[in-house]
Amino acid sequence: MLVVEKNALTEEIESLVQRFGKDRSSLLKILHEIQKTHRHIPDFAQQEIARLLDIHPVEVYSVITFYAFLNTEPKGRNLVRVCKTITCDLQGKDAVCKAIERELGCKFGESSKDNKFYLEYANCLGLCDMGPAMAVNERVYTNLTPEKAVEILNGVK
Ligand code: FES
Repeated sequence: MLVVEKNALTEEIESLVQRFGKDRSSLLKILHEIQKTHRHIPDFAQQEIARLLDIHPVEVYSVITFYAFLNTEPKGRNLVRVCKTITCDLQGKDAVCKAIERELGCKFGESSKDNKFYLEYANCLGLCDMGPAMAVNERVYTNLTPEKAVEILNGVK
């Protein structure tokens, strides 16, 4: 008898379906777990989630593209979010962003070539009186200048 080994990703999704329930309402929780483990939701995972929840793959894809924290391609290991809201904007956020893009060789909305960083804009980080502000993963930096922002990123391991 031919025994076909089950794909590890399929097994992972099966166990998530078992944990959260074989129901459309489990979709977001399952996607969140896959994103956490794989830093993105691969095409194959999308197909398998759809199959196991008995929903259309397009539905899975639309949920992924709707939420900013879910993505179909892996992002850089460190998430850099620069506040784009008006106070930081008026305090020099553009110059900071340009310096960051120059230093990392990528634009906002992209990962650096070495996949160390992913750049994105954020809404107010709650430190408007100390702008421009930027978060690198969970840590927030304030009163940025272009030089200071570059120095901070160079210090990230
Ligand atoms: S406007 Fe940038 S932190 Fe509030």
